[in-house]
Amino acid sequence: MTSEEIRQSFLEFFEKKGHKIIPSSSLIPENDPTVLLTTAGMHPLVPYLMGEKHPAGQRLANCQKCIRTSDIDKVGDTTHHTFFEMLGNWSLGNYFKKEAIEWSWEFLTGKEWLNLDKNRLAVSVFVGDSDAPFDEESFNIWKNLGVSEKRIAKLPKKNNWWGPAGETGPCGPDTEMFYWAGDADKVPEGFNDDNVSWVEIWNDVFMQFNKKADGTFETLKQQNVDTGMGLERTLAALNGFDDNYRTELFWPLIKKIEELFGKKYGDSLEITRAMRIIADHLKAAALILGDEKGLMPSNVGAGYVLRRLIRRAVRNGFSLGIKETFTSKIAEEVIKIYQEVYPELKKNKEFIINQLAQEEKKFKKTLENGLKEFDKIFRSLSSDEDKKFFYIGGKDFFNLYQTYGFPVELSIEEYVCRRNKLGYTPASEEIQKLWTEEVHKKMLEHQKLSRTASAGMFKGGLADASERTIKYHTAAHLTLAALRKVLGEGVLQKGSNITSERLRFDFSYPEKMTSEQIKQVEDLINEKIKEDLPVICEEMNLEDAKNQGAMGVFDQKYGERVKVYTIGNPSTGDFFSKEICGGPHVNCASEIGKFKILKEEAVGTGVRRIRGIINF
Ligand code: SER
Repeated sequence: MTSEEIRQSFLEFFEKKGHKIIPSSSLIPENDPTVLLTTAGMHPLVPYLMGEKHPAGQRLANCQKCIRTSDIDKVGDTTHHTFFEMLGNWSLGNYFKKEAIEWSWEFLTGKEWLNLDKNRLAVSVFVGDSDAPFDEESFNIWKNLGVSEKRIAKLPKKNNWWGPAGETGPCGPDTEMFYWAGDADKVPEGFNDDNVSWVEIWNDVFMQFNKKADGTFETLKQQNVDTGMGLERTLAALNGFDDNYRTELFWPLIKKIEELFGKKYGDSLEITRAMRIIADHLKAAALILGDEKGLMPSNVGAGYVLRRLIRRAVRNGFSLGIKETFTSKIAEEVIKIYQEVYPELKKNKEFIINQLAQEEKKFKKTLENGLKEFDKIFRSLSSDEDKKFFYIGGKDFFNLYQTYGFPVELSIEEYVCRRNKLGYTPASEEIQKLWTEEVHKKMLEHQKLSRTASAGMFKGGLADASERTIKYHTAAHLTLAALRKVLGEGVLQKGSNITSERLRFDFSYPEKMTSEQIKQVEDLINEKIKEDLPVICEEMNLEDAKNQGAMGVFDQKYGERVKVYTIGNPSTGDFFSKEICGGPHVNCASEIGKFKILKEEAVGTGVRRIRGIINF
């Protein structure tokens, strides 16, 4: 089966089971500060798992583009990726465990579906703890389907609990399905999740809880199902590969890397690992850049994730000894693989290629500068005797990293290499000491600091639907409408980010706003708040929404049925704002209080950003 056949077959199966197929959402979440990038198919559905009504109904299925950086250290093995596609089916307060598990099994093993060998499958269920009991129900459903008890592991939260995607939000116990990717004649009788040949391919999550900011769990209004099947792993399983990179979704990238680098995949573990990281990271980078939102590499938020992916790829290329630029050549192969499924890649090809080339160039400069600094320190030592004891230490390595962005592992390599040349090879304990005691400690401190900073930055959010974030969400709609009134209809929304403390709103406009224009926009928003316009939600077909002049955000793909929020009177045409949006929003504008624009600035060519607060 090809990847496209698996996508189609999955969607057809769930359509037959009464599900509506919805499009993949953007990789860059809209109005949701709890995660930087879309990590799972459930993510864009959080408001609906929390109880909002979805316009397409209670049974949904799709194939979602995902980026997951939590496993980035595992990338380089055969099964972990930063970009992957997740096939998912959802019940929003509709069916629950029995149907979810039985359908998963039917799709995996059914003759007309994936037809996987039952003897190569195993499952796990939640063993229970003080937050929730043992999932006996799932255990029994599997048993009744004929799965041997030896193949049903009972595991703790660490393994069998999913979510929330951010700090807070929907979550619950899950049951996972594993496929034996090892030799067909060596399938063990029992299941042991420590054995890497058992590869998790599907996860059915029973989302019954909401994790609150204080760490406690509350029962959700409705019992949901959220499942996610990994396309890359399933494709490998169906084609008899024990390495996802051998499948059609990766192999052309590996081939290109082999050609550009003049090395062979599989020649050594080191080469293989580096090639996998390059393929994985550049694929992820191309997909992020190709997303409709035009995100660019930067030092904050999702832009920083993008920057790190590209730089890690370049760094790995560097270690394989490549001199010329390579990232955009590999991205071209990525585009070829995915352009039919994700046409936005074709559309944004130039942007993807240019951004990669620029970032690669910049990073190479960083590497060169770092090496020059390194040289300076080295040359400042005058005698051979000095050089013998040449020791620039973890503190210096960390400074090189912090000031020049020069990667620590490169510093260590450089250090070892220079001492080798002088004939004073450092003892491995010395290197170990450098790494663990000094550099590593510093890096950890650094990471902890930045994590605390970003936790502060992203706390709250629409996913937890707090009152303040809902107000900000409605304020964002007013902002777009006001900007279009003051600056003209050329203004389009380019992105937004909401926390319970502020609104950040990006829009297209070619020049800096004058202070007068800023004041006009602010006054207009406050005028509408004072008028206490109603905020009304209606469901309709996408075509009708467009005909009524509803604004859509970016070229986002919507389902056939959409929710439209009108601020003003929806029936007379006398409204201030009308947008296709999932909600939630306040009921009337006066609930917002008062709005103030704190700052207007550029964030890219032709893109401006407004920062605003309410009730200052
Ligand atoms: N949210 C779950 C996961 O990501 C199932 O879709 O594994």
